[in-house]
Amino acid sequence: MATDNQSLRGFIEDLERALPAEVLRIKDPVNQNFEMTSTIMELDRLNKSPVVIFENVAGFDMPVVTNTAANRGLLARCLNTSVKELPSVFRERCQNYIPPEIVPRGAWDEIVLEGDDIDLTKLPIPLQFSVDAAPYITAGQVTARDPETGIDTTGFHRLMLKGKNRLGISLHSRRRMFEFHRRAEARGENLPAAIVLGVHPLHYMGSMVYAYPPNVRKFDIIGGLFGEPYRLARCGIADLEVPANAEIIIEGEILANVHEPEGPFGEFTGYASYRSTQNVFVVKRIRMQRKAYFHSITAGMARDHILISCITREGEILNALRRNIPNVKEVHVPHTTCGAFLAIVSIKKVSEGEAKMAMLSTLGTELYTKSVIVVDDDVNIFDMDDVMWAVATRSRAEKDIMMVPGVKSAIIDPTSDPKNFTITKWGIDATAPLDEKFAERLTISEEHRSRALEILSRAKVI
Ligand SMILES: Cc1cc2nc3c(=O)[nH]c(=O)nc-3n(C[C@H](O)[C@H](O)[C@H](O)COP(=O)(O)O)c2cc1C
Repeated sequence: MATDNQSLRGFIEDLERALPAEVLRIKDPVNQNFEMTSTIMELDRLNKSPVVIFENVAGFDMPVVTNTAANRGLLARCLNTSVKELPSVFRERCQNYIPPEIVPRGAWDEIVLEGDDIDLTKLPIPLQFSVDAAPYITAGQVTARDPETGIDTTGFHRLMLKGKNRLGISLHSRRRMFEFHRRAEARGENLPAAIVLGVHPLHYMGSMVYAYPPNVRKFDIIGGLFGEPYRLARCGIADLEVPANAEIIIEGEILANVHEPEGPFGEFTGYASYRSTQNVFVVKRIRMQRKAYFHSITAGMARDHILISCITREGEILNALRRNIPNVKEVHVPHTTCGAFLAIVSIKKVSEGEAKMAMLSTLGTELYTKSVIVVDDDVNIFDMDDVMWAVATRSRAEKDIMMVPGVKSAIIDPTSDPKNFTITKWGIDATAPLDEKFAERLTISEEHRSRALEILSRAKVI
């Protein structure tokens, strides 16, 4: 039987068939501690981003799959588009809500572990950085329902291994899950939740969407990305529905009014993060496929951790800007600024003040994006050299730098206020003024560029 096209294993099989160089199977034994993370970090340094399967993790039978979302080309392929069009296609598709289909049984129903058989330490959970307090489940899509409306959500939350059936969880991004837990707690109830491990990159992508109406399920958005209903099955905790072809399901609840130390953990900021909401997840049952893959996201500043944040923010900011400023061209959220903190916007400016409007809209899109640079459309926003040239030559500090103090920000941004987690957001207008004759940019024609390449090629330089 063909493997499900919406599953992690379907994604891997399809890649192995179509683009075998994009799947790296490591057969050498690797240690659970540090070795998987350092291997992926070295691949990042070499600018290589295959999906990596560690087949032999010492002491475990289960292979570990990582780096499934580290490559713009492969993510564009999932949406059947080009790298250039990826943010635009993403933003269009994720507004085309398609409700899920509920199937009778999940593929993860093959092995069911309950009571004393529950033992998270038997999973090959990597210890990623020397600062990490414990091994962390990093690819856990946590699903729960709003105790008031019944609408569910799905999103990644770091999960610290604390014992055979106990995990620390941090809800620091303060979006749906944080609010659902707060609402359950206000009623004095635990929040029933399921951790889903081993999902397709389009689930990863759809789960990172943040601007959508409250009555829409993230599973409707993920369906939009697939272009067909996402197949879910009911698992055994409350009436939660989870992807039918996920690898592993961990059912349980996030406790009300219980806080325990959680962290530090090597975060996407490139720092050890000690800030956490310090919640606790207690496991009631584990279910998995017979030959399950353990999915892990390489943490820290690995592309696997950050790239989807870049793309989803690019899409969301484009969405927000295009409503008001039709001449916005492109948006880039660079990996080097943690896939969150800086956005670069290019516009074809037709009247003064548009760059400032774009700055305000971008900064208001969500809490993480705290800085923005707006440039003219002759600047390549995917080339930081070009962007910094525009900042250096087209902005004047006294009129082009904007600061907005006291704005809600990311808890784990090390520069946010340690008590109330606010920050000063800023923007730089690096567009040339329209109303005066501005300096003329130097250019070299395409003809002369090709001629130069011929000369260099004959001189054996390239
Ligand atoms: C790999 C990865 C790990 C993440 N870990 C956390 C986390 O530990 N806590 C958190 O609040 N958000 C985390 N996030 C961000 C949330 O998953 C994201 O904000 C999501 O949209 C929240 O979904 P929600 O609206 O269902 O809460 C993580 C994102 C990624 C890509």
